[in-house]
Amino acid sequence: MKIAVISDIHSNIDALDAVLSDIARQDVDQVVNLGDCLSGPFDAAATAGRLMALDMPTVSGNHDRALWDGPKEDMGLWESWVIDDLSPVHLDWLKSLPDTLSLGEVFLCHATPDSDQENWLDYRGPQDRLIARDRAEVEARDGLAKAPVLLCGHTHSPRIVRLSGNRLVVNPGAVGCPAYLDTRMEPPFIHETGAPDARYAIVERRGADWQASLYAVPYDASRMAALARSKDSESWAQAIETGWITPAE
Ligand SMILES: [Fe+2]
Repeated sequence: MKIAVISDIHSNIDALDAVLSDIARQDVDQVVNLGDCLSGPFDAAATAGRLMALDMPTVSGNHDRALWDGPKEDMGLWESWVIDDLSPVHLDWLKSLPDTLSLGEVFLCHATPDSDQENWLDYRGPQDRLIARDRAEVEARDGLAKAPVLLCGHTHSPRIVRLSGNRLVVNPGAVGCPAYLDTRMEPPFIHETGAPDARYAIVERRGADWQASLYAVPYDASRMAALARSKDSESWAQAIETGWITPAE
């Protein structure tokens, strides 16, 4: 069994297409999606159309839920960029997404098995950056999910972790958002992958054991960066062009 894992597309259709093209050469049995599909300053309607047509197993992210759970005037900035581009059909698809999915030995969630917005493998540390949790803290957050393979996204930080019983936790990183700036905090929180590449992972069962690989796919981000700039988001444009938020000296 060989499964490609994508997450955190954030409306970046060009990054999604680059990843899907790369996956097409990997001879996988299935592609699964861990959510945060449409919120971001790019092309949400095209992304929704592509994902709905592919009809892959998909769980809901916190930013997917934010597009329909609550009044429009309370939506965050990432949702405000796209809500008017989405049709009722797109929103009905988002509403239909489950919080978690079990596919045999593989468990899918967006953030943790119990939450679509708590960081699992990493936490927001005092230096305004992600810091890896210790093993006990990771294991304490596995909820009722005891599957051999646990898939999560949300932090946009690609990681492969082993827990007790040789269980595998894999975060593929983000397809469409390699760096972000969260100005709701003071000082602002920054996450930077440090490369503009679109990320995904592959998990594969070989014999009795599961193994994982992380992939980084270069693509031309210029069209998406222009869309971000048309929505006054220089930080998102810079993020997808470079993978960094902090300017070079
Ligand atoms: Fe996300």
